Amino acid sequence: MSGTTATDLPLFPFPDLKDNPLDPPAYPRWVTEDAPITRVALPTGQWAWLVTRLAEVREVLRHPAFSADMTKPGFPLLRPLPPPRDGDRAGSFIRMDPPEHGQYRRMLTPEFMIKNVRRMEPSIQQTVDGFLDEMIATGPPADLVEAFALPVPSMVICQMLGVPYDDHDFFQSRSRILLSRTTPLEEVQAAVDELRGYLGRLVAAKERDGGDDLLGRLVAGRIRAGELTHDEAVGMALLLLIAGHETTANMIGLSTVVLLHHPGQLAALRADPTRAPVLVEELLRYLTIVRTGLPRLATADVDIGGHLIRAGEGVIALLSAANRDDAVFAEADRFDVDRGAQQHVAFGFGVHQCIGQPLARAELRIALLALAQRLPTLRLDVPEDEVAVRRDSFIYGLQRLPITW
Ligand code: HEM
Repeated sequence: MSGTTATDLPLFPFPDLKDNPLDPPAYPRWVTEDAPITRVALPTGQWAWLVTRLAEVREVLRHPAFSADMTKPGFPLLRPLPPPRDGDRAGSFIRMDPPEHGQYRRMLTPEFMIKNVRRMEPSIQQTVDGFLDEMIATGPPADLVEAFALPVPSMVICQMLGVPYDDHDFFQSRSRILLSRTTPLEEVQAAVDELRGYLGRLVAAKERDGGDDLLGRLVAGRIRAGELTHDEAVGMALLLLIAGHETTANMIGLSTVVLLHHPGQLAALRADPTRAPVLVEELLRYLTIVRTGLPRLATADVDIGGHLIRAGEGVIALLSAANRDDAVFAEADRFDVDRGAQQHVAFGFGVHQCIGQPLARAELRIALLALAQRLPTLRLDVPEDEVAVRRDSFIYGLQRLPITW
């Protein structure tokens, strides 16, 4: 039945929900209360099972029968895929299944280990301080998204990969096109081509000249050893560049709005910086920016929470609902830093769980603490309900965040 039109079902993403940066559930109440596993229609004319409870979301994401390979027939899509072309998929392991997925992921695991991220912290701090210095020197007021939330993770991922930060306008604008649900296919394809072309030249330069950065090591260690092709390295670089900046940027912007709404939490952080890690976990849970969930395709019949999901049917694991599961998080709609939110699935679950999470956590801790400490009079420069939310993206975020201090 997968792939058939399903006009009688509710449309997902749910079109008429009011976007509120302070309380952004991406689903109506009846979904989680009355129908935790329910069928929804997708904008592509397909239908899929929407799975919303934490236990069942985890079951789907760790079950080997669920594929993340978008090119498989019947895979649940929120926008049509561009026609397949040779090489487009090379290295993009986020959409591969084991064992192929692990071959690529393992090449990057050491780079993202906590001890390596710890070594990067002084340079992340320097980046955070640098952009704050600039913002303070030219303001108030300022747009926090443009002056701080976007440039910090952008520069951090550039330094890590060995991509020149001077090119940030180029890759930020193209990433945004790729993450938009409404961009026409030709534009998506053109953005992929431009990014691949750009990163292709960069990887070629590293093949020639080397480099003490992630791409340099990938070239020296893996391409030269014949374990990775040039195109695969380009695909991996593209995945990291896109996954590595827009997500964390949106978390910094949205977290700031939430913290300004809870000034007691901001003051507590300022007084006791050791609160930063628990604060960050609760912000990740509460905001769950991968708001359209994670799509998967059943490759065998599987029972999930008493529902038979048949081979060939699509599933969407709705992380945002799972992170508001009252059975796990008491009064889940409440922002409560001391609840112990560690079981959240904001970074996904199973083999594809976010490889960049130690880095994202470090960036969030350092950025939010610096904002709290250096701008004790920080406040919004527009009423809360006028903060402009990005509506068309797979990732929840702000268009801009006018602030003053
Ligand atoms: C707060 C920030 C972030 C959030 C909320 C986030 C969220 C996620 C989620 C939900 C997934 C799972 C996707 C799936 O299962 O289909 C994922 C995967 C991934 N993320 Fe992140 N991410 C963040 C930051 C980062 C950063 C900073 C990087 C890299 C530097 C990164 C790189 C990746 C990669 C490469 C994958 C694919 C992993 C795999 O397929 O094995 N992410 N992320």
